[in-house]
Amino acid sequence: MFSRISQLGARLLREAKAETRAGNLLSSRGSLYQGHVSQHLTPVVTPTVQSSRNVLFSTATSGDKDESSQEKEKISVTFVNKDGSEKTISVPIGMSMLEAAHENDIELEGACEGSLACSTCHVIVMDVNDYNKLEDPTDEENDMLDLAFGLTETSRLGCQVIAKPELDGMRLALPAATRNFAVDGYVPKPH
Ligand code: FES
Repeated sequence: MFSRISQLGARLLREAKAETRAGNLLSSRGSLYQGHVSQHLTPVVTPTVQSSRNVLFSTATSGDKDESSQEKEKISVTFVNKDGSEKTISVPIGMSMLEAAHENDIELEGACEGSLACSTCHVIVMDVNDYNKLEDPTDEENDMLDLAFGLTETSRLGCQVIAKPELDGMRLALPAATRNFAVDGYVPKPH
């Protein structure tokens, strides 16, 4: 009788141990499974969101750039001739008013072709606000301007006025006369 009770007790004990092992195994697999999910799901979701954001962002940025560069590629400049007639032209950014005038058959002479040795490219900026947007004239330009006919407060040499976005819509008047050193044989006095 005693030995049967002992056998029964031993069996119950084995079963209890077996159940405990199974429970431990299940819970450790559960945590393994969670680890598996967190390792594989997290990286898949996060980069997808980031990359789609990046694509959207870069597309919008390059689109804005294209639009703004197209807008700023050229500016509109109106030349007012000696007889009062006007001609509005598109001038690429970075081009001088002398070059732009020559490309568009506007009568702006430019005898020295932009080397600051004449004043035949003299233009008058008609709006003082536009004049104030220009770079200050160099001493060499001022020296040449001093020799120009019909000098005004807003006179500049056309070869030194370079197109930039802020000058869009600028109006330039051609003075009634210019002094051409090459034709007149005029030699400026040294300062
Ligand atoms: Fe001679 Fe401008 S073209 S100074």
